[in-house]
Amino acid sequence: MRTAFRLLILLFIVGLVVIQFFQPEKNTATDSPNHLFKQVDVPDDVSALLKQACLDCHSNQTQYLWYHQFAPVSWFINDHIVEGKEELNLSNWGNMEILDQIAAMEDMSKEIRNGKMPIASYKLMHPKARLSEQESQRLIEWTSSFSEKLLTGE
Ligand code: HEC
Repeated sequence: MRTAFRLLILLFIVGLVVIQFFQPEKNTATDSPNHLFKQVDVPDDVSALLKQACLDCHSNQTQYLWYHQFAPVSWFINDHIVEGKEELNLSNWGNMEILDQIAAMEDMSKEIRNGKMPIASYKLMHPKARLSEQESQRLIEWTSSFSEKLLTGE
């Protein structure tokens, strides 16, 4: 019995070591000429909030934490990034059609208003992403007024 238990632990450890060789590609582009911040004059406080709460999953640049490099955590994080970027990638802003840009700003505003973004597991591990009422309001206000601006072509 004891030998079986030891064998199981050993297998578990070997398994953990082996999965480390299967890592997703990191989301760390160095050059992003089409990024929202390069294309649009975003106020500093708004860009700081977007960086704090959204861009890890909605741009080509994730700020990884030290433990994100270990599987299976790295797989979990990568799923969010891949799925998040599929829905909205602010590094592609310059390549988006104007109607998609307007929709993106409207959606961002809506997701924050509904409390759906940033996602709960992310807030748990990233205290800075837990936006205060005031910070959320600021993002809602900016995304809404910016989409209006795009709509009216001002
Ligand atoms: C930890 C990763 C992560 C963070 C951080 C994050 N998102 Fe997301 N986001 C996702 C994923 C995954 C999806 C797709 C699945 C879903 O809708 O839940 C998504 C979907 C979206 C969508 C599309 C929703 C729809 O159904 O149309 C919008 C808009 C969005 N996020 C905005 C934001 C905004 C704004 C922030 C910051 C306040 C943010 N997200 C932070 C992962 C993230």
